[in-house]
Amino acid sequence: MTEVGLFEAMYTARALRRLKPDPVPDELITRVLDAAIRAPSGGNAQNWVFIVVRDEAQRHRLGAVYRKASDEVAEIYAARGRPAHLTDEQYQRLMAGGSYLWDHIGDAPVLLLPCLRKREMPPRDALPDEVAARYDAHLIHQEKIRGSSIYPAVQNIILACRALGLGTLITTNHILYEDEVRAILRLPDDVFTFALMPIGYPLGRYGPVARRPVSEVAFADRWGDRWSG
Ligand SMILES: Cc1cc2nc3c(=O)[nH]c(=O)nc-3n(C[C@H](O)[C@H](O)[C@H](O)COP(=O)(O)O)c2cc1C
Repeated sequence: MTEVGLFEAMYTARALRRLKPDPVPDELITRVLDAAIRAPSGGNAQNWVFIVVRDEAQRHRLGAVYRKASDEVAEIYAARGRPAHLTDEQYQRLMAGGSYLWDHIGDAPVLLLPCLRKREMPPRDALPDEVAARYDAHLIHQEKIRGSSIYPAVQNIILACRALGLGTLITTNHILYEDEVRAILRLPDDVFTFALMPIGYPLGRYGPVARRPVSEVAFADRWGDRWSG
C-alpha cells in the first residue's frame, strides 16, 4: 500500500459509514491503537482505555443501543432542519448515510470504543485556601473539559484508518444510553465511553471533505474581524 501524506489524509478522511463485513487483521487494529496513544492528554495522564469489539453478539448489542439512541437524535435533526451551509444534496447525503448506519453499525467487523477513566480529584482540604475557595469552579472546569483528553486520540484513529486503507467515523449517539453500553462492556464505575467507531474496509471512496472556508470561520484578534491571511 502506498503511503498517504498527512495533509492528504486530513483532506480525504471523510465519515465512512458503509463498510464491508470482511474481517480486519488484528495487526492493523493494533497499529491504529498505537497511533491513538500518541495523542496528547491532560497532564499526560493517558487515562484512556480502548475497547475493541469483534464479537458478533457484542457488536449487535451495541448496535441496538446505537439504533435506539439514533431514533431519538433523528427527531432533533428533523426539527432543526438543514443547516444553511449545506446544500440540499449534501444534507440528503448526510441523512441517508446516518440512517444507513442506524441499521448497520453492528455489522462492521470492528467497533472501537475510546474510553476515559475518571481522574480522582484531591480532597478540598489538601489544597491551599485560595484554591480550595474556588474548588467548585475547578470541579465544573473538570466536567467541561471531560472529553478533551480522548478526542485527540479519536482524530488520530480516523487518520490512521485513512492511512491504512480502512474506513471509520466518530459517532456519539450511544452516549444517550451510556449505562446500557457500560453494562454490555462491563466497564468499571469510573470508566466512560466517548465515541463508538465502526471500523472496516470501506465500500465507498475517501474524500474530499467539503467544509465552510477559513475566510468564513476565522477571526483575527477578536470576534468580527475577519481573518484575511
Ligand atoms: C462529536 C461528533 C459526533 C458525531 N456523531 C455521529 C453519530 O452519532 N452518527 C453519525 O452517523 N455521524 C456522527 N458524526 C459524524 C458527522 O456527521 C460527520 O463527521 C460530519 O457530517 C462530516 O462528515 P464528512 O467528514 O464525511 O464530511 C459525529 C461527528 C462528531 C464530530
